[in-house]
Amino acid sequence: MKLIVTGSIAFDYLMSFPGKFSDHIIADQLKNISVSFLVDNLNRRRGGCAGNIVYSLALLGEKPLLVGSAGQDFSDYGRDLAEIGVDLSMVKIVDSVFTASFFCNTDSENNQIASFYTGAMQYAREIDIASLAGESVLAIISPNDPEAMVRNARTCREKGIPFIYDPSQQIARMDGDALVDSARGARILIVNEYELAMFKKKTGLDDAGLAELAEVVIVTLGERGTEIRLAERIVNIPIAQPEKILDPTGVGDAFRSGLMTGLANGLSWETSGRIGSLAATYVLETDGPQSHHYNVEDFVQRFITVFGGNDEVVQLLER
Ligand SMILES: Nc1ncnc2c1ncn2[C@@H]1O[C@H](COP(=O)(O)OP(=O)(O)OP(=O)(O)O)[C@@H](O)[C@H]1O
Ligand SMILES: [Mg+2]
Repeated sequence: MKLIVTGSIAFDYLMSFPGKFSDHIIADQLKNISVSFLVDNLNRRRGGCAGNIVYSLALLGEKPLLVGSAGQDFSDYGRDLAEIGVDLSMVKIVDSVFTASFFCNTDSENNQIASFYTGAMQYAREIDIASLAGESVLAIISPNDPEAMVRNARTCREKGIPFIYDPSQQIARMDGDALVDSARGARILIVNEYELAMFKKKTGLDDAGLAELAEVVIVTLGERGTEIRLAERIVNIPIAQPEKILDPTGVGDAFRSGLMTGLANGLSWETSGRIGSLAATYVLETDGPQSHHYNVEDFVQRFITVFGGNDEVVQLLER
């Protein structure tokens, strides 16, 4: 099965300021703020939801197609993704701008001042995925330029491309009608608990209404695991206990990679969800959303240690 991953491609620039922001912001001068924080740490990381999802998919042995837009600074990032098996033929490169960038400065008390530069991401709306319709495909629509998300969902519906609708943080920017319009007909709607509440509030739908919108609704519950709501029953997926927790950035994306790998190989919801849990745990144990490494053999071995033997998961070794 061909996996199509649409969504953002970005860099994260993470800085840490050793003092407190509040010591440098003068309350009666808020009308003309001019502050510069001398930071002693800058970490530049590869990210973006689609970038993170294809990264773990490739580690899991899939050859996903990345659909998104990136700028003049993408070449090293793209080269490394291609090397691990990601198909970049649908990445639109816009040389006149930079790849979407998230700049975040964190002070000693964990306060944050951040900016997100859209950059090349706004061109994602120009990509047409209609030609990707085919026999055996599964697409995911993950956070991206909001117009691109709406367009891609519409194309999937019109062309009969089965899709996972994954609005995440973009729920905040979309109104109820746009959300309903995009999620309608999805094979899966996936959100975390907070996003579920926001989705319901904006659309006015209850659980029954959501179940009519998408065939399957998946709610990730952080350290409490995942609930997969099928039409006829609910499947509860446990977590894979991490050895340590370094950084949660990108756990949700990695869960999606694992889930999609299971589904692409025809595995059950029970096993696909557990593959998602373990893929997420690898991300928790490292610093950054694409700093983890494993091969399929290691992954299957650890899966069996954590969840016990299973005829299905060993099929991942036989591709
Ligand atoms: N503390 C944890 N220990 C083990 N597994 C976890 C933990 N937190 C999250 N996970 C796994 O990751 C999945 C997704 O986590 P969560 O519900 O926090 O997603 P999210 O809020 O979308 O994350 P993100 O910060 O990436 O947006 C969970 O369903 C679970 O399998
Ligand atoms: Mg998330």
